[in-house]
Amino acid sequence: MAIERGIYTHPWTRGNFADSLRAGYECRVLRRGAELLGYFVLMVAAGEAHLLNLSMSPPHQRHGHGSMLLREAAGIARKLGARSLFLEVRPSNRGAQALYTRFGFRKVGVRRGYYPAPTGREDALVLTLPLP
Ligand SMILES: CC(C)(COP(=O)(O)OP(=O)(O)OC[C@H]1O[C@@H](n2cnc3c(N)ncnc32)[C@H](O)[C@@H]1OP(=O)(O)O)[C@@H](O)C(=O)NCCC(=O)NCCS
Repeated sequence: MAIERGIYTHPWTRGNFADSLRAGYECRVLRRGAELLGYFVLMVAAGEAHLLNLSMSPPHQRHGHGSMLLREAAGIARKLGARSLFLEVRPSNRGAQALYTRFGFRKVGVRRGYYPAPTGREDALVLTLPLP
């Protein structure tokens, strides 16, 4: 929760994480010793996977950890039978978009007013990665 609250204007709640665990979503953390560096939450169903959360603690960003977690998420999705991995990202989140583009994701749509934002709502870009 400390990481989540430190990096998002509208962080997930404890309940969002608890619900994801209870629902059996693929939830993974990256640790160094006792320190939590980052995590992801992945939902896989009906041949599709959806990356619901991917987060890295600020001091540990830009060290390749996000890419590593993304590779792990894609690998799990593939193993569980998904043919595509989907995610949403804010148009204002250029850093994450750079990561996803570099990874091979392509934009396939826009969800209007999907995210809460400091002044109203913000669209979501929908990106997808084929999992051959
Ligand atoms: C997005 C996030 C998960 C990326 O994790 P990371 O460990 O920092 O990413 P990596 O170090 O693996 O980055 C790989 C490449 O992605 C691109 N990239 C990642 N973050 C970037 C940024 N802030 N600005 C520009 N490019 C960025 C770069 O091409 C980078 O390679 P480089 O460092 O050699 O230039 C992490 O920055 C984060 O948690 N951000 C805040 C939360 C967030 O936006 N989550 C995604 C919501 S959709």
